[in-house]
Amino acid sequence: MKAIDGSGLRALGCHICVRPLSTGDARSVRDGFASAAAALTTRYSFPRSLASVSAQLELERARGHAQRFAITADERLIGVCSLQPPLYSGKELTIAIFDAGFRGRGVGTHAVGAVCRYGFQVLKTHRIELGVYADNHAARACYRRCGFRYEARLRKFLYHDGGYRDILWMSLLPATRYIVVAGERRQNGTNRYRHELRSPM
Ligand SMILES: CC(C)(COP(=O)(O)OP(=O)(O)OC[C@H]1O[C@@H](n2cnc3c(N)ncnc32)[C@H](O)[C@@H]1OP(=O)(O)O)[C@@H](O)C(=O)NCCC(=O)NCCS
Repeated sequence: MKAIDGSGLRALGCHICVRPLSTGDARSVRDGFASAAAALTTRYSFPRSLASVSAQLELERARGHAQRFAITADERLIGVCSLQPPLYSGKELTIAIFDAGFRGRGVGTHAVGAVCRYGFQVLKTHRIELGVYADNHAARACYRRCGFRYEARLRKFLYHDGGYRDILWMSLLPATRYIVVAGERRQNGTNRYRHELRSPM
């Protein structure tokens, strides 16, 4: 996968890019997870050791195809995104922007779009799925904007932070994908997007 620039995100005042993770990113990934910035809203267990992150990235390098991606701002790693083996079918997408200063500004939408395009066009997957906590409104807005549709509510699916949590299961198929064709910042600080339905990718 070539690095994909967030050219539509220039208003952020820095250069946003999505590219495959490399072994040189291991420390930043370890630190991102260890910061607990994504611990409350993701269902994976943290922290991860440098050895385990490095081994995972080394294995991926040997396999020759990317499934984990860095989200960078001026070459600094601010988050990660991945296409993992699925729970049900296709690939499972995960994402976390560790640096909260970059959330709610369109970076997640850009990264999810870039990684899904890679999944459909290069990996030729027929479906991308994900699970999101029902109260994670920012993530739900981001996924909906990228064309993901709700499929199911998995009730009391995971025990996390002292209680059982519902997960909304969502999926994206190439033939039903909405593309963000324009975005603008409103005066009240929110974003407005225009979508088009294009098929297939
Ligand atoms: C989920 C995540 C990747 C989304 O990335 P992002 O860059 O924040 O997403 P975007 O800015 O593209 O879109 C988020 C949207 O949610 C909106 N939003 C933010 N907080 C919100 C809230 N509390 N309620 C409703 N909407 C909210 C934003 O305004 C934005 O919508 P808009 O562009 O229409 O204004 C990021 O917030 C993150 O890393 N969160 C922590 C980890 C996580 O939850 N990962 C996902 C697990 S399923």
